[in-house]
Amino acid sequence: MSLLSILEFPDPRLRTLAKPVESFDDALQQLIDDMFETMYEAPGIGLAATQVDQHIQLIVMDISEEKDQPLVFINPEVEVLDDELESYDEGCLSVPGYYESVTRARNIKVTAQDRHGEKFEMTDNGMLAICIQHEIDHLSGKLFVDYLSPLKRNRIRSKLEKAHKKQNR
Ligand code: NI
Repeated sequence: MSLLSILEFPDPRLRTLAKPVESFDDALQQLIDDMFETMYEAPGIGLAATQVDQHIQLIVMDISEEKDQPLVFINPEVEVLDDELESYDEGCLSVPGYYESVTRARNIKVTAQDRHGEKFEMTDNGMLAICIQHEIDHLSGKLFVDYLSPLKRNRIRSKLEKAHKKQNR
């Protein structure tokens, strides 16, 4: 396994629309393993393929305390079950160091395929619901900062740009 590098806002590659996964081959299994290693190392609770510059509909996640419940969502679709909303302070491995409140649907059903292509379904009204909506946004080129005011988003953008320039010196 190997660690992958994570794209950071405002990298334009984070805006790429991910394509559906069609082949559940060895290369996909390798990418899934590498994404888990990268996510656990970061550490984070979710990672979309978009964030490691692989533009396919693949998400890995582990919201457990013990980090022993890995979840894979391939070609995921979310159905919002009612109009109840929930706000949560979200962070993102592509926006390191920033946490801001985002409001999302509370009750959702997700339909996806696992790493072998088997279809499954989950309903949730907690952390998983928030996290899967955040990760699915990545697959359509969207980031949690897009929900913030332009002022807040631009402030985060310029601070990260400054940090990136320092790193590249
Ligand atoms: Ni994220």
